[in-house]
Amino acid sequence: MNNLVLIGFMGSGKTTVSIALGKALDMDVLDMDTLIEEEAGLTIPEIFDQEGEAYFRELESSILESLLPSRNRIISTGGGVVLKPSNIEKLHQIGTVVFLQANEDHVYNNVKHDTNRPLLQVEDPKSQIKQMLELRDPIYLSSADVIIQTSGKSVEHIVKEIITIL
Ligand code: S3P
Repeated sequence: MNNLVLIGFMGSGKTTVSIALGKALDMDVLDMDTLIEEEAGLTIPEIFDQEGEAYFRELESSILESLLPSRNRIISTGGGVVLKPSNIEKLHQIGTVVFLQANEDHVYNNVKHDTNRPLLQVEDPKSQIKQMLELRDPIYLSSADVIIQTSGKSVEHIVKEIITIL
């Protein structure tokens, strides 16, 4: 089967859905953030803290490039992968791009106790999420082959929906 590439904002459910989808379709799952951490030998917060976001984005693009030859994989991306147009092109070369669209409250509830997302370690994460979603949602939408709403739905429901649409 063609690779499936999951895109979407932090906390939209990409990692959880990718694992469930991998089981349902008997496909291997790759998580870009995990590959970046392995490549750097550092956690995501350590990369941002010690090397900066620009370095993280370079690693992200080079890991994406390395995924071009992948076959029969579910690939879970980091929420900022769509920020570079050249990355969007690569996402499409890799496979069918599925956008998991979540609303502000859903995202906030999923990330509020999380300390592993450096871009949300701010005084007012709720308004940061709102601002970032306003900026990024149009990019996710225009980058997607398939759009799935995730807010208020179980993982099983989302997986079924994706399988039905494919
Ligand atoms: C980021 C999302 C994160 C991770 C990094 C930057 C972003 O991945 O790549 O913290 O810019 O949205 P998740 O979407 O898996 O949280």
